[in-house]
Amino acid sequence: MALFEIQNHKPKIINQKSSIVNRPRRLRATPALRAMIRETELNARDFIYPLFVRHGEHGEGRSEIRSMPGVYQLSVEESVREAEAAMKSGVNAVILFGIPAEKDPVGLENFDHNGIVQQAIRAIKKEIPEMVVVTDVCLCEYTDHGHCGILNTGEHIHLPEGYVLNDETLDVLAKVAVSHAECGADIVAPSGMMDGMVAAIRDALDENGFENTPILSYAVKYASSFYGPFREAAEGAPKFGDRKSHQMDPANVREALREAALDVDEGADMLMVKPALAYLDVIRVVKDAFPELPMAAYNVSGEYSMIKAAAQNGWIDEAKVTLETLTSIKRAGADVIITYHALDAAKWLAG
Ligand code: PBG
Repeated sequence: MALFEIQNHKPKIINQKSSIVNRPRRLRATPALRAMIRETELNARDFIYPLFVRHGEHGEGRSEIRSMPGVYQLSVEESVREAEAAMKSGVNAVILFGIPAEKDPVGLENFDHNGIVQQAIRAIKKEIPEMVVVTDVCLCEYTDHGHCGILNTGEHIHLPEGYVLNDETLDVLAKVAVSHAECGADIVAPSGMMDGMVAAIRDALDENGFENTPILSYAVKYASSFYGPFREAAEGAPKFGDRKSHQMDPANVREALREAALDVDEGADMLMVKPALAYLDVIRVVKDAFPELPMAAYNVSGEYSMIKAAAQNGWIDEAKVTLETLTSIKRAGADVIITYHALDAAKWLAG
C-alpha cells in the first residue's frame, strides 16, 4: 500500500470489539516467526576482508594498528595465515593493501613484480587457490607525497603546482592492474577516482590477455574524514593538501549517478560506494539505478574504529552493534561489504 493510501486509510469496523485490526506485532511474536519474515540476511560470503601487507623483518610478523584495534600490518607469511583464518570462518575474499619498502614520486614498487602486494597475491593464491584475491589499485600508499597520482611539478603551467595529474596517473594505474593480474589477482579495484580509470585499466588488461579479470570500481568515493585510521594503517596520508580535487563532495548524490554511469560505460564489472554508513542513501540510489551490477560498499576504517572504541569503553555491545551495522549496509542495497569486522562478524553469525 502506498504511503498516501495508508495515511488516508479508514479502518472498517464490522462487529469488532477492537478497532485495531492490523497488528504487525503478530508476526514478531516468536524467534521463528521473526526469522521467517526477515528480509535481509547477512552471510560470511558477503564480506571482503582487508589485509595490510608490509615487508617483514624476522620477529615482527604482525603489528597492531593503534587506531584500529584488532587490525594488523602483516608480513607476507602472516597475510597467508590471516587469509586462512578468513577462509576457515567462511569469508572467501580478501582485499590487499601494500606498504612499500621505499616511496618515491611515482611509486615504483606499485608495479614491481616483487612488490609487496605482488608477493602477497602469489603466496595467498599458492596456499589457498580458492580465495578470491582483490587488490586495491591506487598510488597513495606508494608515493612519497602520499597523493593518489602523479603530481604537477610545474610543467603544466595552467594547473596548480601539486595538482594530481589525471592522464599521467592513468598510465601508472594500468601498469599496476596488469602487474596484479600477472601475479594471480582475481579482481582489481581501482580506488583513485581518476577520470577514465576503468577504461584505461580495461584496455591494458585486455591487451595483456587478462580480458577475464573483473574490475571492481570504487566508482563513488567521497572525500571523507572517515578514512583517518586507514591512513595510519597504510601509511598513505597526503603530506600536504587533501583529496578534494578527485574524491567526491559528501554533499552530493546526483553526481554519484554520473560517476557510476561513466564507470559502467567504461566496463566496470562491479560498483562500489565508499564510505558506507554516512552514505546509505547513496548505496540505495546507485543500486536502484544499476540493479544489474553487483554492488559493493566499503565499511571504512573510521566506521570500524568508532564501534571498537565505544565497545572497549563498555558503552555498546560490539557483536550486536556490528551485526546491526552490517545488516543496514546490506539492506541499503550492497551485495558485498568490504569490512574489517569480517572475521568477527562471520564468527558471530555462525553463533
Ligand atoms: C586509497 C584508499 C583509501 C582507502 C581505501 N583505499 C584511502 C583514501 O582514499 O584516502 C580507505 C579505506 C578505509 O578508510 O578503510 N588507496
